[in-house]
Amino acid sequence: MEEQELSEDAFYIRRMWSFSQALDLGLVDDEVEKGLQVALGQRHGERVAYIAMRLGRCLGFSKKDLVNVTVAGLLHDIGILGCFREYHGDLRIMKKHCLEGALVVRRFPSGAFLASAIKYHHETPDPAYSVLRASYEEVPLTARILSLADHVDVRLQRRRQSRHERDEILKWIDEETGTLFYPEVAAAFTNVAQKEAFWLDIEQAQLLQIALGLLCGQWHLPATRELEFGFTDDLAATFADLIDQKSRFTARHSRSVAEKVERMAKGLGWEENRVHEIYVSGLLHDLGKLSIPKKILDKSGPLDPSEIDIIRTHPYYTHCLLTEAGFPTRMVEWAAHHHERLDGKGYPFALVGKEIDEGARLMTIVDIFAALTEDRPYRLAMTPGEALGMMQQSTGTAVDVSLVDLAKRVLL
Ligand SMILES: [Fe+2]
Ligand SMILES: [Fe+2]
Ligand SMILES: [Fe+2]
Repeated sequence: MEEQELSEDAFYIRRMWSFSQALDLGLVDDEVEKGLQVALGQRHGERVAYIAMRLGRCLGFSKKDLVNVTVAGLLHDIGILGCFREYHGDLRIMKKHCLEGALVVRRFPSGAFLASAIKYHHETPDPAYSVLRASYEEVPLTARILSLADHVDVRLQRRRQSRHERDEILKWIDEETGTLFYPEVAAAFTNVAQKEAFWLDIEQAQLLQIALGLLCGQWHLPATRELEFGFTDDLAATFADLIDQKSRFTARHSRSVAEKVERMAKGLGWEENRVHEIYVSGLLHDLGKLSIPKKILDKSGPLDPSEIDIIRTHPYYTHCLLTEAGFPTRMVEWAAHHHERLDGKGYPFALVGKEIDEGARLMTIVDIFAALTEDRPYRLAMTPGEALGMMQQSTGTAVDVSLVDLAKRVLL
C-alpha cells in the first residue's frame, strides 16, 4: 500500500512538473518579459519548487505537505497566464496573478492548501514590500517559504554558477530578514545552503528526478499505459482554458476540439476509455501554443515566413510536454499529430499515410473544422456546411475522406 502511495505521489509530481514547464514556455512572451524580465522562462517554477521542498524538509514537513509544497512551487505563477488578456505592462499584475493563481489551483488535489500558498506567495514581513499586505498570521508557512524561494530564484543569475553566488545570497538574506524574509524560513535557508549539493542540484536538467529521489526515494517512474481519472481531467481543462485565453481568437477552441473529437470517436464506436482519452488529448492538442508570442497569435495581417516558422513549432512542444508528463503514447500522438497530413506535407514530423493513426486523423479533421468555423484575425468564421464543403476538396492528399463523411453525420 505504502509503495503504491509513493508512486502515486511521484506520478502526481511528474505531471505537475511537466505542466510547470508549459507555464514556463508561456511566460517567454515578449509583453510579459518587458514587465517581469528575470527568471521567467528559465525553469523558474521548477527551481522554486525544488528550493521550497528543501526548506519544507528542513522545517519538518510531513510527506504529504512536502508533496503539496513542491506542487505549490511548480504552479505558483500560474496566475500570470490567466492575465494575458489584460496585461499591458501593468505592474498591478503582481496582485492579480496571486489572486488569479489561487482561483485556478482550487480544483486540484489539496486545492485549499495550494490556493492559500499561492495567494500569499508575494508577502513579506515588512508591508512595504508585500503585495497584499497580509498580516503574519494570515500568511501560511508554505507561502512564507514560497516567498523566499521565489526571491532567491529571481536573484540567481543564470549566467554564473549558482554556488559562486552562495555567499552573496546568504549575506542578502541575513540583511533582509525581518523585512523581505520571515525569520524561521531564513534560518532554514541558511541551513540548507550549507550543502554544496543544493547549489549543484538547482542547475541540473534532471531536477525532477532529483526532487523525486528526495521525496519518494525513486528516480524512475513506472510507465503509464492507461490514463487515470481525476486530477488529470482538471489539469487538462485548466490548461485548455489558459491556452485559449492567450489569443482573443481562440476563446473556446481547445474545448470545442475536445467535444467534437469525442463525438467523432463515439461515432466510430470507440470504447468508453479511449473516447475519454481522446477528449483529454483534444483539450491539450495546442498545449505547445503557450510558447507562441501573443503578438503572432493575434496578428491581423498575413504572417511573415519567420512567424510561420514559429507557429509551426507548437505541435512539437505539445509532443515534448505530454511525453514528459507521462501520458500514454497514443494520447501524445493524438494530440501532437494534428497538423500532419496523409501526403507527408504536414508538420512537425512529416508523417505519411499509415504512420498517422485513426485518433490523430480524427483530431486533424476536427481541428480544421473547428478553426474554419471560428473567427480568425484575417477572416470571419465559415458556417459548418461551408467548412466541410471546403475540407472535402482537400481530402485524399491531406485528410482522410471517410472521416470527412463521418464529420458530416456527426458534426452538422
Ligand atoms: Fe509570482
Ligand atoms: Fe515567481
Ligand atoms: Fe494546432
